[in-house]
Amino acid sequence: MSINFKELANKYQTPYYVYDFDYITKQYEELKGAFRARKSLIAYAVKANSNLSVIKHLANLGAGADCVSIGEVKRALKVGIPAYKIIFSGVGKIDEEIKQALELDILMINVESDAELNRVELIAKELGKIARISIRINPNIDPQTHPYISTGLHENKFGVDIDTAKRMYIQCKNSENLDPVGMHCHIGSQLTQLQPIKESVKIITDLVRNLKAIKIELSFVDVGGGLGIVYKDEKLIDTNEYAQSILENMFGLDITVVCEPGKFMVGNAGTFVTKVLYEKVNGNKRFVIVDGAMNDLIRPALYNAYHRVEVLNDNQEFSDCNLVGPVCESGDFFAKNIKLQKTQHNDLVAIYSAGAYGFTMSSNYNTRGKVAEIAIENGKDRLIRRRETFEDIIALEEEFIK
Ligand code: LLP
Repeated sequence: MSINFKELANKYQTPYYVYDFDYITKQYEELKGAFRARKSLIAYAVKANSNLSVIKHLANLGAGADCVSIGEVKRALKVGIPAYKIIFSGVGKIDEEIKQALELDILMINVESDAELNRVELIAKELGKIARISIRINPNIDPQTHPYISTGLHENKFGVDIDTAKRMYIQCKNSENLDPVGMHCHIGSQLTQLQPIKESVKIITDLVRNLKAIKIELSFVDVGGGLGIVYKDEKLIDTNEYAQSILENMFGLDITVVCEPGKFMVGNAGTFVTKVLYEKVNGNKRFVIVDGAMNDLIRPALYNAYHRVEVLNDNQEFSDCNLVGPVCESGDFFAKNIKLQKTQHNDLVAIYSAGAYGFTMSSNYNTRGKVAEIAIENGKDRLIRRRETFEDIIALEEEFIK
């Protein structure tokens, strides 16, 4: 659907994020439908966009949640995702988080090292609980994506190798406080090639079968997230082929398939909208300066990520420029060396594919308030997070001024 960015700017000011909730529904239904031949759980990766209304929308559709902090677990619970659909992942869980996850009785804890497994066992014992465990396998597979968002190689900090995993499953089996229920694997984000996913699913399902042979029967295989989206002209993985290539490895296993998409659900549902403040020319370099900045959307600065940009005016005079924000860093840009038309003060600029890892990675750098977030559903807009004020930003420091 087309969104009237101008109307929203008049109503909510700029910069803002706007999310098309109907698009999120479509993405969820598409993926869930692709797995229809099996029991499946789509556990939305909350880190991609953790706005409560976004999670609630997915909860209403039946999604579970993949969380990487107890804060994310609590967000998911708050909007009605049942504990039995919540997974807790991450390489560095602290004791208090493990304790709370056990008390909240979530579906499973994704354990990422043998040291962590010992810790979970100890804490479960202290609480008199049995911890449902899934172990994250690092299959040592190159996902062919940006190195910063690649996670499935031994050189990355994530998961454990197969032999370690086997030992850990046996430890679970022999423990009174651990119950091995799942196996997990996530090789990276923005995946556009099916082959590395196929290979890693094969590796983990082989291990599931090996374990079955020694009477360790798992109920869940979590194939991670990472399905890519269109930023520019990427050719995407077909969701039916994706599901098919996973399911064909499950033959003869009584397993619920779990996947944890973040970007796929919300990435292309979101647009970041900012307005032009000034144009300037340094030497012969043209800059278009907008009111949004790297603290609002850091992906270009952090990964040199491409986001399609559109100036919303009818001017036909295009020339090269850098689109930059007001923050005091040369890394504060949205796009470099792109052709944009001549702009005027207050022209709107839409930065697309910004629904995932946009707002959630934003900060208050330069004492800039986090921006407003808006939902569009059935053609109607509503505010789902108000713009931060100066008072919001200083609230946690003010009382300590001496
Ligand atoms: N599961 C696990 C264990 C993960 O680590 C991640 C993402 C996901 C699922 C969801 O991945 P997705 O489907 O969203 O690709 N900030 C980066 C992406 C970092 C991804 C971190 N882990 C970006 O802006 O591209």
